[in-house]
Amino acid sequence: MISMKGIILAGGAGTRLYPNTIAVSKQLLPIYDKPLVYYPLSTLLLAEIRDILIISTPRDIAGYQQLFGDGSQLGLNIQYAVQEHPRGLADAFLVGEQFIGEDSVCLALGDNVFYGNTFSETLGRAKRRVEKGSATVFGYPVKNPREFGVVEFDENGKVLSIEEKPEKPKSNFAIPGLYFYDNNVIEIAKSIQPSARGELEITAVNQVYLDAGKLHVTTMRRGMTWFDTGTPKGMHKASGFVKTVQELQGFYISCIEEIAWRKGFISDQQLKQLGEKLQQTDYGKYILSLLED
Ligand code: DAU
Repeated sequence: MISMKGIILAGGAGTRLYPNTIAVSKQLLPIYDKPLVYYPLSTLLLAEIRDILIISTPRDIAGYQQLFGDGSQLGLNIQYAVQEHPRGLADAFLVGEQFIGEDSVCLALGDNVFYGNTFSETLGRAKRRVEKGSATVFGYPVKNPREFGVVEFDENGKVLSIEEKPEKPKSNFAIPGLYFYDNNVIEIAKSIQPSARGELEITAVNQVYLDAGKLHVTTMRRGMTWFDTGTPKGMHKASGFVKTVQELQGFYISCIEEIAWRKGFISDQQLKQLGEKLQQTDYGKYILSLLED
């Protein structure tokens, strides 16, 4: 298995959430009972990616450092980098060039929430496809494709086109903020030009892979839930979903301590210590309850 690094892009101005984000980074705001950034972090852990770079703004990076430290308490290696200006999603590969080194990389946008019972297998398949030289993005059916990157593909999953926020979408499949690439992505990110809105678009990166016949799309359908939490409504919807599922099923969504433990990154003893720090809360009690089963 090739080594894969993970990047969480958690910067941006967050203007669509003002006044919530005038003083606080959007990805540190809560989705119900935990900070938004826990959700993309849990995605990387489910993909068994343990070397992780968190990118945020000069103002906000300290908040992430305070939250996760060096990641060793979760059996991870977490590093941090500053993006001086929101130059676009593909800028993650330029800011993260040294960190990625010779490896392949998974980019998880800091505001994307995924949940579903087949998710781990989906992530494993995406990693294996990168090993065979193909990038993987996902397609998720939405009612408002104009607000996203949109992918059109045939019945075999062959991608026909990708467009960023098209006026006339060719399908209703949005591309969520989770991307798997081989090491060539660094050179590709260096080669693309800023779009009309002045950003290095991830869609331009995907177009290069598509032109080379190396872009795979995996569709997420029933059973998978995805939230882009870019607006107050999006955050509220995701919070309600997390609360409902957790209360109904008793399983927590994106409890990073639980995932690190189930994946064998930390021991029972380490999990206990993490739970004890939070034991005044239902979240902490849930962590401790895992050791009783
Ligand atoms: O959420 C999925 C969508 O994300 C994709 O379907 C689109 O193809 C993709 O372009 C992106 O669209 P958005 O308009 O939602 O991207 P946004 O500018 O909101 O940025 C996504 C996150 O990344 C957000 O939490 C802020 C952060 N960000 C953004 C930029 C442009 C950064 O940290 N740095 C940046 O330079």
